[in-house]
Amino acid sequence: MVKIIVGTNRKNSVSKVIAQLYQSILDERGVESEILELENLPIDFIGTALYENSGKNEAFNTFHDKIAEGKKFIFIVPEYNGSFPGILKSFIDGMTYPNTFRNKKCALVGISSGVGGGGIALSHLTDIFHYLGMHVLALKPKLAKIEQNMSDNLLTNRLYVDLLQTQADQLLEF
Ligand SMILES: Cc1cc2nc3c(=O)[nH]c(=O)nc-3n(C[C@H](O)[C@H](O)[C@H](O)COP(=O)(O)O)c2cc1C
Repeated sequence: MVKIIVGTNRKNSVSKVIAQLYQSILDERGVESEILELENLPIDFIGTALYENSGKNEAFNTFHDKIAEGKKFIFIVPEYNGSFPGILKSFIDGMTYPNTFRNKKCALVGISSGVGGGGIALSHLTDIFHYLGMHVLALKPKLAKIEQNMSDNLLTNRLYVDLLQTQADQLLEF
């Protein structure tokens, strides 16, 4: 079971749409997946689930356990202020240190309104996952100018679709 993580808690996010497209790519390959949306994190988790409160918030524990049981992940990562969203770092900070990601594997997809495609955000996140012992697939599609390359919740840029399909195949082999 591949876990697809929507890397923002913003409502009606483009990241969520990309996560759903990614899930359909995995469906076509007969691979089961589950989408985890940071939007569904308990709103107060920063005050009730981190540090001295670790393990005390049942709703957060459910998220934590899904990550803990996962072996392969896909992170859909929007570029916020030149990096990945802070909510994603707080979520990672809420995982049991240091074992939750160790020896696991992930693929990263960056998206942005601007020309960067979240490239720097993916580099920042790669550093963190490597620090935590998680292997990051080398192919990291950067979907720049995302609004101009989507229509009706579909990617209109054939290259972007090809990149996601190739990445999915590589992650399944990884
Ligand atoms: C708080 C915030 C900061 C953002 N910063 C950037 C940025 O630094 N560079 C950029 O190209 N786009 C930036 N964007 C636009 C997002 O990258 C773009 O909307 C993204 O592709 C989709 O994000 P979503 O999943 O929240 O819809 C920002 C958006 C938000 C909400």
